[in-house]
Amino acid sequence: MRILVTGGAGFIGSHLVRRLLSSGQHQVVNFDALRYSGNLTNLNTVSQQPGYAFVYGDICDGALVSSVLRQYRIEGIINCAAETHVDRSILDPESFARTDVVGTGVLLEKGRQDGVKRFLQVSTDEVYGSVESGLSTEEDRVQPRSPYSASKAGGDFLVLSYWTTYHFPVMVTRGSNTYGSNQYPEKFIPLFVTNAIDEQPLPLYGDGQYRRDWLAVEDHCAGIEQVFFHGEPGTVYNIGGGNERENIVVAEEILAYLGKPKSLLRFVSDRPGHDRRYAVDSGRLRQLGWRPIVPFDEGLRSTVQWYREHESWWRPIKSGAFREYYEQVYGRRLQQAG
Ligand code: DAU
Repeated sequence: MRILVTGGAGFIGSHLVRRLLSSGQHQVVNFDALRYSGNLTNLNTVSQQPGYAFVYGDICDGALVSSVLRQYRIEGIINCAAETHVDRSILDPESFARTDVVGTGVLLEKGRQDGVKRFLQVSTDEVYGSVESGLSTEEDRVQPRSPYSASKAGGDFLVLSYWTTYHFPVMVTRGSNTYGSNQYPEKFIPLFVTNAIDEQPLPLYGDGQYRRDWLAVEDHCAGIEQVFFHGEPGTVYNIGGGNERENIVVAEEILAYLGKPKSLLRFVSDRPGHDRRYAVDSGRLRQLGWRPIVPFDEGLRSTVQWYREHESWWRPIKSGAFREYYEQVYGRRLQQAG
């Protein structure tokens, strides 16, 4: 199949591009605007492969999207392009509405006009809002609480409306907290790993007892692939790792793997509107034959090892514009924490 993966230079996108190419059965066009978290070095191992092409572009650019769809005779679209970080959405909500809602809308419409056969929207379990107990099913109410999750929910609704309105074969996946190699170090796990390597403080928000369900990026991509090829059009599929942990437990595990002291932990003031817990029921996807295979402790250990061995990947990131962002989000908080 000829597949357009948007956001293919990002974390989940680049893992997905590599996975799709590894079967030798698909041609993949990676369409990416190379914003702050996009990194083409994530694709070094496949960039010369005959089935791979890269196009620099923004999903909001309808004319460019249309011409790429035609030029490469694209049959399926997987939309991984998104603004994804909750803390950034608090600082700059507009860019989230632009990419995650408007961009998704443009991509959908161009795909529909071009007769694309399948469209998969990579979304998030955060659209369900904070889940104090139990597991969210796909039929649960969507109650997003941050500009990020609200933008993703807007995108989901648009995508699903294309099935009911036009019978355009769309699917939505809602993944839980994903971790692994090549993840931009603003997210909890890579931030804590790289800070710990440098013996810098690890800023835990609030009481550190917020809970997330951790999903290895390999399992997440396997779920996306399964839904893309075998999912029912017009349907949402949750993808959860089944590895629920308190943040502090994950932080302590990272410190233990690196042989660093717990004194690096800092309790800092909380993220505004911080969702206490996410947890999804992945039963629908399991019925398609998917299940997560990476045990969390193993996945975390190998992720820590990857960051240890790839300082040349993350050090340039952390020394550039990232510093300004870090100061803005953490500077005062860390000072107050002492
Ligand atoms: O659930 C899926 C979502 O997971 C994805 O849709 C998002 O794109 C992804 O960013 C992630 O959202 P979270 O807000 O849960 O991830 P984050 O890595 O920012 O934070 C994970 C937990 O760790 C959360 O409870 C906040 C906490 N945290 C995070 C950071 C960055 C800290 O305590 N300190 C930190 O410095």
